[in-house]
Amino acid sequence: MSPYARIVGVGGHLPQRVMENDEWQQYIDTSDEWIRSRSGIQRRHIAAEGELASDLALPAAQQALANAQLAAGALDMIIVATTTPDRIYPATACLLQAKLGAAGCAAFDVQAVCSGFMYALSIGEAMIVAGRAKKILVVGAEVYSHILDWTDRGTCVLFGDGAGAAVLTASATPGILATRLHADGNYADKLTVNAHVKGGELLGDGHTRMDGATVYRFAVEKMTEAAKAVAGDNEIDWLVLHQANRRIIDTVRKRLQVPEEKTVFSVRDHGNTSAASIPLALAERAADFKGGDRLLLAAVGGGFTWGATYLQW
Ligand code: UT7
Repeated sequence: MSPYARIVGVGGHLPQRVMENDEWQQYIDTSDEWIRSRSGIQRRHIAAEGELASDLALPAAQQALANAQLAAGALDMIIVATTTPDRIYPATACLLQAKLGAAGCAAFDVQAVCSGFMYALSIGEAMIVAGRAKKILVVGAEVYSHILDWTDRGTCVLFGDGAGAAVLTASATPGILATRLHADGNYADKLTVNAHVKGGELLGDGHTRMDGATVYRFAVEKMTEAAKAVAGDNEIDWLVLHQANRRIIDTVRKRLQVPEEKTVFSVRDHGNTSAASIPLALAERAADFKGGDRLLLAAVGGGFTWGATYLQW
């Protein structure tokens, strides 16, 4: 009997094309100074023409599996968190499964926008603790650039594309210690792509629309609350928050009394990669985490959805 689920390998992948802040001046009235000072973002990666979520997920997943020393064929389950799936169906997880050569295991997507990885990780943990699976690949993958209005300066400069992955396995020693997930659908219009497909046509507005100030206030309040709920008064060795905005991360960090050098800030180079942001941040800093370190992960996203996980590395 293995009572815990533990992350045993992580991986990340970013598309090749880097877009610096200055490049936005070709499309909108903005400046590097505005973007940096309001969000802490300096650059983001943008997928190539035809490059979809499963294409970004594949190298991230392969890296996580290699770090976990696990063959893709040994997986019991693949969960992909994405807001920008390759297709309406099949799930991006099924497409990724085929690319990995892992046919047979369960595979499905989770949609909780920027909190998607937190939701997917929690489902994976619950499956392992319930004895339904032993080895699970949890992925966050986004081509968020596909759902941006490149003329809406209040949103387009903030987001980027990428993928991150984690391998979760059953473990006799503690890994994931506590998780909380929440949602409040009353805020649906505050951060949304309000469109659907009917009769072969997109009906509605296929771009991200956001009430930035409301998201900002909600993110600070709810990530802090969820973080305190999972960690209590216990030590936080590393704070890995959803990478949406440096000012949001800094405010939450101060409220939780976590020093800057123990807080991950990948937002500078990635922008907001939605469901990919936390696993990408984990992959980027994995070499700095020591066995036994306590990590606090928290995210907020469209829905609104939010959640936090306290885990032992
Ligand atoms: O995963 C969750 C996703 N979303 C977020 O986390 C976003 C949360 N919200 C935020 O990060 C911030 O609210 C923003 C970065 C979006 C905005 O920062 P702010 O300091 O709240 O700026 P603001 O909305 O008060 O806008 C100030 C001004 C406005 O001009 P006026 O109306 O005062 O003349 C905007 O039109 O800045 C203008 N502005 C811009 N200027 C240059 C908005 N976007 C830009 C831009 N470049 N890209």
